[in-house]
Amino acid sequence: MSKKLYIETLGCAMNERDSEHMIAELREKEDYTLTSSMEEADLILINTCSVREKPVHKLFSELGYFNKVKKDDAKIGVCGCTASHLGEEIIKRAPYVSFVLGARNVSKITEVLHKPKAVETDINYDESLYAFSDFRSSPYKAYINISIGCDKSCTFCIVPKTRGEEISIPTDLILQEAQKAVNSGAKEVFLLGQNVNNYGRRFSGKHPKTNFTELLRKVSEIEGLKRIRFTSPHPFHMDDEFLKEFAANDKICKSMHMPLQSGSTKVLKDMKRGYTKEWFLNRVEKLRSFVPDVGISTDIIVAFPGESEEDFEDTLDVMRKVRFNQIFSFKYSPRPLTEAAEFTNTVDEETASRRLTTLQKLHNDIVDEKNKELLGKTYEVYFEELKEGYFVAGRSDNNTIIKVKGSEELLGEFKKVKITHTGRTIMTGEIVE
Ligand code: 5AD
Ligand code: SF4
Repeated sequence: MSKKLYIETLGCAMNERDSEHMIAELREKEDYTLTSSMEEADLILINTCSVREKPVHKLFSELGYFNKVKKDDAKIGVCGCTASHLGEEIIKRAPYVSFVLGARNVSKITEVLHKPKAVETDINYDESLYAFSDFRSSPYKAYINISIGCDKSCTFCIVPKTRGEEISIPTDLILQEAQKAVNSGAKEVFLLGQNVNNYGRRFSGKHPKTNFTELLRKVSEIEGLKRIRFTSPHPFHMDDEFLKEFAANDKICKSMHMPLQSGSTKVLKDMKRGYTKEWFLNRVEKLRSFVPDVGISTDIIVAFPGESEEDFEDTLDVMRKVRFNQIFSFKYSPRPLTEAAEFTNTVDEETASRRLTTLQKLHNDIVDEKNKELLGKTYEVYFEELKEGYFVAGRSDNNTIIKVKGSEELLGEFKKVKITHTGRTIMTGEIVE
């Protein structure tokens, strides 16, 4: 009988993909099958995120719980970004953990499985050529890594310390992966990297010069592929050539993630983001001049050390000017091994909470107003998910989530849908053709 794997994935899309890789390896080489029950698992994996402090605290309380409910001989493995930066400390604090596997080392999952108390966390380990086996959690869209690691040095961010330096994956491997996904029925690919539009700066071996715009062109030539999405691009690298390709290439979904972080040029400088408030606004303006209906999402950090009321007002000003479709907003959380963790001009907790609430309220007001304008509009929707109450949901190419009455027969299909009811995060519609 096959062994059972229970896996919990926290954090970003990159982590989701790493989990898929580990599942594939364990399935192929060790005959594991997935289970949703921790109690019957032979191996419990937790793929962690360390970008903010909260998930790290949560990790240790969860591990304690896993240890209580697991079968006597079941193994527990800690993987991902927190594994990278805490390493051995995890086994010291939770001695029942069998192994620790960093975010840059997931290809070694079947090795560490048989090495009691193994700790593999080398952030310079090059797994860019690792030939990934197949496991996809969705048959409709395929996550494909295009680079590993990150070369930026944003002062708030722990990722370069957990995922190491940036290496791009060879173009032909990416094209092969995309072709494979399409052959098995996926119509959408989701290109992943910490900083996708910096693609092609460094490969692990000899490789013809190529950049992200060229990669997009090549991927879009794959027959049968309908949609291309990617995350995350960096506003600093959004040159005109890239924006033009984004606009002109029909297969590229018209939804852009533009992580602002702060609207204040001074704070952006302290964060070492490499752009100003004006540059960001200029890129949005250019993008909208090419693609008026583009969906724009962003990440914002409030209360970064030294953020004054005036700086925060700049962030609100950008919010009012850009009117993002979606925001992911966070209170600044000091992270070990980062430059900003040493900054002493911290913002007090009460101010941070107030700013986060103000920001989120402004965003909700903007989105409620924007979404009302969607009533009666028609979008092409790619259906991917069943929802309660006999509904099926999918996304328009500009990333609006829309559900219609229906069931399995719509999954994996494209339909034109007219919006009949608007909400804050999900619209309701009816199929028109
Ligand atoms: N504190 C708060 N938010 C952070 N992020 C990254 N590091 C921190 C931190 N130290 C946010 C950024 C990033 C997103 C993935 O997480 O907004 O874009
Ligand atoms: Fe993803 Fe960053 Fe979290 Fe790592 S720390 S899982 S890279 S969001």
